[in-house]
Amino acid sequence: MDGNGRWAAARGLPRHAGHKAGISPVRMVIQECSQRGVEALTLFAFSSENWGRPSIEVSGIMNLFLDALERETAQLHANRVRVRIVGERRTLPVRLQALVAAAQAQTAGNDGLRLQLAVSYGGRWDIVQANQRLAEQCLVGALNPRDITEAHFAGALELADVPDPDLFIRTGGERRISNFLLWNLAYTELYFSDGLWPDFSVAHFEEALAFFAQRERRFGLTYPPPPPAAGQAGS
Ligand code: IPE
Ligand code: MG
Repeated sequence: MDGNGRWAAARGLPRHAGHKAGISPVRMVIQECSQRGVEALTLFAFSSENWGRPSIEVSGIMNLFLDALERETAQLHANRVRVRIVGERRTLPVRLQALVAAAQAQTAGNDGLRLQLAVSYGGRWDIVQANQRLAEQCLVGALNPRDITEAHFAGALELADVPDPDLFIRTGGERRISNFLLWNLAYTELYFSDGLWPDFSVAHFEEALAFFAQRERRFGLTYPPPPPAAGQAGS
């Protein structure tokens, strides 16, 4: 979700106004995904690197997270959304950690959209923490380093139980991943939208879905894998 700062600057407003205006498209995207039966949505809200921004901007963003969680959790729960934070939780303000824990506990049993909010998240951080988890298992003798497979590694990542994304959407005109889900994006379709995040509308979202619908996904094979036979669960 990129372009909040530029959106505000274009209006002669402080950057915070752009972050605040970015909440409404977040609500829209969650609602659209819920209604369309999307299984999982992961929003990159704040990166490991974003901590390096001026402290006034960082604390403003943290307060927006607090307010938004306080205001929206009941509605998310009513819509059967399962909320989770992925990222380095211990770096977050204590009050935010508590709110996040409460929102996660409240919505844990829901069967609707799985919503991951990536906060204080970095793809490299995720890979390192996965390595730490596996190394600890090796240390206690529960795992032999030679036996480590891709499945072990994927299982130690923050999104262990969430399927790899089919579609990645970045707004704001930059064509880069910026340390988002580095492992999980291996075969994800990448969509870049030039508009700024606060302007992201249902029509923009539908453009991204239309782009996705045109892709032929081969996953390194010559032909796309056949669709699962009728009556069989897809994956
Ligand atoms: C994205 O918008 C929001 C966060 C990174 C928290 P930016 O703040 O990066 O907006 P630009 O790129 O300066 O316009
Ligand atoms: Mg930016």
